[in-house]
Formats: sequence, structure tokens, C-alpha cells
Amino acid sequence: MRTIKIALFLSSLAVGLLSLSALRPSETGPVTHPAGRRASVADSVRHDPNTGLVVDERLNLVIAHCTACHSSKLILQNRFTRDGWKQKIRWMQQTQKLWDLGESEPAVLDYLVTHYGPEKKTFDGRRKPLSSVKWYQLQ
Ligand code: HEC
Repeated sequence: MRTIKIALFLSSLAVGLLSLSALRPSETGPVTHPAGRRASVADSVRHDPNTGLVVDERLNLVIAHCTACHSSKLILQNRFTRDGWKQKIRWMQQTQKLWDLGESEPAVLDYLVTHYGPEKKTFDGRRKPLSSVKWYQLQ
């Protein structure tokens, strides 16, 4: 009987928490959620209004070489290592008539891996393990 009561209590607690987070995303989201922290870091970075690409001194080079055939969205929605980006470029050169980037290639790759490299996750979304828990047995 007690177990059932505890189960009921826990499930109502869970429902309560769920509806709380659904109703007030601004209070539970950006403040404590890691994605919110990432977003605020990203906010300090300027984005080109036309392409959505991050603005830095190599942007024009990247626009010239990488947005002639397709939308910048193909860059925005991908994250690759430097080697991964190089492979994509090679693939486009072999199959999609992308030209030789010549001396610009290292700068283009630097740009891509700096802003569209694999995301560094410092927090994997799990809470920290509980410490100093006093376990007890239900009667
Ligand atoms: C000569 C034309 C051309 C240029 C210039 C070009 N691409 Fe592409 N790219 C393509 C085509 C065609 C595709 C395939 C599009 C599709 O699948 O709809 C593609 C696809 C991609 C993809 C998606 C690949 C995948 O596996 O899904 C990425 C990322 C990409 N390009 C990045 C770049 C970058 C970065 C540059 C600049 C270095 C660039 N593109 C320049 C033609 C080009």
C-alpha cells in the first residue's frame, strides 16, 4: 500500500515537473539548460544576414567558393572535422565540378572547422550522479 502511495506521489511529481517545463520554457530552459548556455555563447558571434554564416576575415572567401552552387544551409547544417570537410570538398571536386580551391583551401578549411567543426560538449545532458545517498528499504 505504501509503495503504491509513493509511486503515485512520484508520478504526480513527474507530471507536475513536465507541465511546469512545458508551460514556462523561458524559466526552465535558457537559464539552466546547457543549450541555453551554448546559445548565449553563439550570440556574441556575428552572422552574415544573407548567408547566416559566421562573420570573420575569411567569410568572403568562403562565400565566393562555397555558395555559388548551393545554399549556405548545406554548410550550416553540417559539423565535420577538418579532414571531414576536406573529404566533402574532394567529393564535390570529383563529382560536382567544384574547382580547385588552390591557395585558398587552407583558409577555407580553417574557417569551416573553426565555426562548423564537431561540437565540443562539456556537458552530456545528464545530471551529476547523486552523492551521499542514504538508501533504505521499503517495508
Ligand atoms: C561547383 C558547385 C559547388 C560548389 C562551388 C560547392 N559545392 Fe557543395 N555541393 C555541391 C553539390 C551539387 C552538392 C550536392 C547537393 C545535394 O545533395 O543536394 C553539394 C553538397 C555539399 C554539402 C553536403 C554534403 C553531404 O554529404 O550532404 C556540403 C556540406 C557542401 N556541399 C559544402 C560546400 C563547401 C564548404 C563548399 C566550398 C568549399 C562548397 N560546398 C562548394 C556543389 C558545389
